[in-house]
Amino acid sequence: MIRYEAQEGQPSPEVLSELLSLHSQLFTGDTREALTEEIAGANGLYTLLAYDDQRLAGFKMGYRRKPGHFYSWLGGVLPDYRKQGIASELMQRQHHWCQQNGYRTIRTQTMNRWRTMLILNLRHGFDVIGVVATSGVATPGQEPKIVLEKKLI
Ligand SMILES: CC(C)(COP(=O)(O)OP(=O)(O)OC[C@H]1O[C@@H](n2cnc3c(N)ncnc32)[C@H](O)[C@@H]1OP(=O)(O)O)[C@@H](O)C(=O)NCCC(=O)NCCS
Repeated sequence: MIRYEAQEGQPSPEVLSELLSLHSQLFTGDTREALTEEIAGANGLYTLLAYDDQRLAGFKMGYRRKPGHFYSWLGGVLPDYRKQGIASELMQRQHHWCQQNGYRTIRTQTMNRWRTMLILNLRHGFDVIGVVATSGVATPGQEPKIVLEKKLI
C-alpha cells in the first residue's frame, strides 16, 4: 500500500537526502550540488512523496515561477513500482493543490526519451506549447526539450 505525503516549502534534511538518493537512481546529469542549490533557491516549493513503508518509491516536485504560475520541475518512480498509477496519483495531487492555492497555469518540460512522462502529461491535460533546443541552438542530433502547459481555470 503506497502512502502519499506532501511538503510545502523547503524539505527537511531527511527528506532532502531521500530525494537526492532517489533522483540519482532515476537520472544522470544534474549533480547533488546543483539540485540542492536549485531546491534551496526555489520559492513556493511543493513536494509530493510516495512511500512504500519507509522506502521512498516516487516523488514529484515543483515551485512557483511567478504569481499564479507553477513549474512542475522533477518527478519519477522507481522501476519496481511503475505501472501502478503512482505517477498519475502524484500528478493529480499536485494539480489539485495548485488549483486550491491560486495557480492558473502549470508548466513542465520533458523530452521524447521520457515518453511515458510525455504521454502522462498529455493525458492529464497539458498542451505542447513549444520546443527548446537543449544548448540554446537547434543542433541536429541533439534532443530538444518539449515545453508543456496546463491551464487550471
Ligand atoms: C514516467 C514515470 C514517472 C511514470 O511512473 P508510473 O508510476 O509508472 O506511471 P503510472 O503508473 O501513473 O502510468 C504509467 C503507465 O502505467 C499504466 N498503468 C497505471 N496503472 C496501471 C495498472 N494498475 N496496471 C497496468 N498499467 C497501469 C498507465 O496507463 C500508463 O500507461 P502508458 O505507459 O501506456 O502510458 C516513470 O516511468 C519514471 O520515473 N520514468 C523515469 C523518469 C522520468 O521519465 N521522469 C520524467 C522526466 S520529465
